[in-house]
Amino acid sequence: MKLAIGNDHAAPAMKFEIIKYLEEKGHEVINFGTDTEESCSYTEYGEKVALAVKNGEADLGILICGTGVGISLAANQVPGIRAAVCSEPVTARLVREHNDANIIAFGQRIVGIETAKAILDAFLSATPQGGRHADRREMLSELSAKYHK
Ligand code: RB5
Repeated sequence: MKLAIGNDHAAPAMKFEIIKYLEEKGHEVINFGTDTEESCSYTEYGEKVALAVKNGEADLGILICGTGVGISLAANQVPGIRAAVCSEPVTARLVREHNDANIIAFGQRIVGIETAKAILDAFLSATPQGGRHADRREMLSELSAKYHK
């Protein structure tokens, strides 16, 4: 799979470990930064990864900040993006199956590297389900269009 990854200053070390892990599994990973611990805003990197997913440059995205929250909120400002924060693998599987989340986010200050890997394994191996779940995703798009003119 082609994956876009981005993070703020809280997570470059974890990001590099994850890139190595995913590349060893055969994924192609595009790194959108930041690569240093110099203070920055999660908004910049959340937007970059969101655009890469929206434009089809990557199949799915991965975002990391201190909690995973700020950077996922940033990504979710881009229409068509469904970024979900997860702290464990069950939710990571379900956000893909039920919500068709196209970006997974987690917090470097919340989860350890082994949990982060398990979250990614669950997210990347799950398949979005149709039926009522697809209907609700359509309702989400309608809700977004209603308030984002
Ligand atoms: C940065 O200190 C921190 O606020 C950020 O990484 C993130 O946790 C925000 O949601």
